[in-house]
Amino acid sequence: MEYVKLGSTGLDVSRICLGCMSFGIPDRGNHTWTLDEEASRPLIRRALEAGITFFDTANVYSDGTSEEIVGRALAEYARRDEIVLATKVHGRMRSGPNGGGLSRKVIMTEIDHSLRRLGTDHVDLYQIHRWDPVTPVEETMEALHDVVKAGKARYIGASSMYAWQFSKAQYTARLNGWTRFVSMQNHYNLLYREEEREMLPLCADQGVGVLPWSPLARGRLTRDWDEITERSRTDEFGGRLYQEGDRATVEAVAAVAAERGVPRARIALAWLLRKSTMAAPIVGVTKPGHIDDAVAAVGLALTDKEVRTLEESYRPHPISGH
Ligand SMILES: NC(=O)c1ccc[n+]([C@@H]2O[C@H](COP(=O)([O-])OP(=O)(O)OC[C@H]3O[C@@H](n4cnc5c(N)ncnc54)[C@H](OP(=O)(O)O)[C@@H]3O)[C@@H](O)[C@H]2O)c1
Repeated sequence: MEYVKLGSTGLDVSRICLGCMSFGIPDRGNHTWTLDEEASRPLIRRALEAGITFFDTANVYSDGTSEEIVGRALAEYARRDEIVLATKVHGRMRSGPNGGGLSRKVIMTEIDHSLRRLGTDHVDLYQIHRWDPVTPVEETMEALHDVVKAGKARYIGASSMYAWQFSKAQYTARLNGWTRFVSMQNHYNLLYREEEREMLPLCADQGVGVLPWSPLARGRLTRDWDEITERSRTDEFGGRLYQEGDRATVEAVAAVAAERGVPRARIALAWLLRKSTMAAPIVGVTKPGHIDDAVAAVGLALTDKEVRTLEESYRPHPISGH
């Protein structure tokens, strides 16, 4: 495994981040395809053995049970100080007032709930899962700063939003002497490259580390367009992100992979890893071999010709995933 600094911070992260949305009690929350604790633990262990030290979860994943499963496994298998543990806030945790969003009340409540579920006294990266259009950005940024100053988070990050929103949050923090975001967790992969217009250049200019979610387009980049898995059959959100016009890119990945004689996932991840702002793709795994492919992608250098083949079929997409 290779390690890089996250953006312009001094924090070391493994070049693969393990996406922990795959882990959670299946009948809790929105994802019926998740792995329960017994099935999740060997994958977390295998990731650690492969040198992955960076783990991404969220309060909303499987109604908090992702955090619980990940927290228990890491406490058993890892040394806390080596691990970079990231979680998120914004999604609705219960119906009724103050059940979601980025108000001071929600942030202060949810960080404590996340820490309890994770079984730790701090997270390394506390991320806002989305933009909250109905809470003043000053309120959100000051609350996040206070979370950091209370020692409950080492750094803060943001996730999918417009570049103008991210920029506004950053300059609001700077103007007030508050903690700024060090990372952007956005939707970026060979099938969705709209982030190349504004967000990635902004991150490059500002020294923000990029952590793309669904780097394999939720599995689409790993198999034939028409192939169905248990997850793809029930992954409602994933079903809305991609379009028929993406088939050609999926075929290009297959062709480059076949030429090299490697699994397609390695090609799709290697393409992301060569981008200059790229800290670590957040890879979702449901089988042990998925971890091996992700790790192998770190050492795979694509040629310029292969990159042209992978990129040439891309067609612009409507903005999605915000
Ligand atoms: N910030 C956000 O809004 C946001 C949104 C989404 C996700 N995330 C984060 O990003 C992480 C990853 O998301 P994701 O699971 O959608 O990512 P992904 O890596 O694009 O997709 C993972 C899926 O791809 C397939 N796969 C992975 N490796 C494979 C391999 N080597 N060979 C064949 N198939 C392979 C599996 O599909 P099958 O299970 O179908 O076989 C797996 O479930 C999440 O866990 C979460 O931490 C964040």
